[in-house]
Amino acid sequence: MLTQIKHLTTTLAPRLVEIRRHLHAHPELSGQEYQTAAFVAGVLSSSGLHAQEGVGKTGVLAELQGTQDSDHILAIRTDMDALPIQERTGLDYASRISGVMHACGHDIHTTVGLGTAMVLSQIAPEIGGKIRFLFQPAEEIAQGASWMIADGVMNNVGAILGLHVFPSIPAGTVGIRYGALTAAADNLKINIFGESGHGARPHEAIDAIWISSQVITALQQAISRTQNPLHPVVLSIGKISGGRAANIIADQVELSGTVRSLHPDTRTELPQWIENIVANVCNCYNAKYEIQYVPGVPSVQNDYSLTQLLQSVAEEALTNDHIQILPEPSLGAEDFSVYLEHAPGAMFRLGVGYPDRDNYPLHHPQFEVDESAIVTGVITLSCAAYKYWSRK
Ligand code: NI
Repeated sequence: MLTQIKHLTTTLAPRLVEIRRHLHAHPELSGQEYQTAAFVAGVLSSSGLHAQEGVGKTGVLAELQGTQDSDHILAIRTDMDALPIQERTGLDYASRISGVMHACGHDIHTTVGLGTAMVLSQIAPEIGGKIRFLFQPAEEIAQGASWMIADGVMNNVGAILGLHVFPSIPAGTVGIRYGALTAAADNLKINIFGESGHGARPHEAIDAIWISSQVITALQQAISRTQNPLHPVVLSIGKISGGRAANIIADQVELSGTVRSLHPDTRTELPQWIENIVANVCNCYNAKYEIQYVPGVPSVQNDYSLTQLLQSVAEEALTNDHIQILPEPSLGAEDFSVYLEHAPGAMFRLGVGYPDRDNYPLHHPQFEVDESAIVTGVITLSCAAYKYWSRK
């Protein structure tokens, strides 16, 4: 069967490249994937699958009935949204939408999802259970998964698979990672309140700018001295604003940042840990503070047996030298983790790098992919889905 899947995929390859180029030329921002969803639904329908639009706002869902009535469903999730970036690749099929670009490879993900649906629908009589295809919107703003789940897409799902492109792995190769794949990403806002005064008379004021610099320094130092170095935490203050004029001591500063962690226990402790440090620094200098700690998405923790399934099909279908077992997770975030609160799952990294040249990173205006990776992605996912039901 793996040989047949490979053959079907290779036959479909020119059509898949066409699909990908269409998606690439017509990117849509998070939550606005209307044309993309209609296009995806059209491709699914032409493969004989019933596509449901408007799931999770601008998402699409389709199902493939297996040969047996399974007690649960295997879900395959891909994401469809693009980024607010002006493309500078110069490709023939570069974005036709000003200021919007598929710079995170979600056009590849959508194409791989469609290719997998096309291949599996051709071998439907051989698939032992039900498969649900999820085409998710709004991954870049970490909300699409929650929208989809609110519409019931995880009902009866017993396992979920997904992928993300990775430019530092060459096309034709997949990256397999056991355990943590991405980090939890939470948002932090800290307001420091002091008291205004003349720049020449600091002792009569409470300088919110100086105190906020102490807060930032204390947080960064405390990470290295009080957090377990084997449970990484990254806290980056990306925005700081406050003050009125050069000779007026600022009475208020706002700090905004992102907090990344891998270990679930660490993540639980972080809000109180941050507050303690902020409170103690502010108390030293009679400043007041307010903290908003807004949980974002959890860490993607790949399920062991589903990761083994991905590795074993990749070994069989792509051969050993096209697999990299990834020793390290990323501190990037991925809202695939929200599905994992409902069912075990695993994501693999799809290599899209050109082997013979430097590759631009994700989210870069010149980000490009080696399109031969599409076939690798479809073969891996299709074989994994087939094998998932045949080993039951
Ligand atoms: Ni992405």
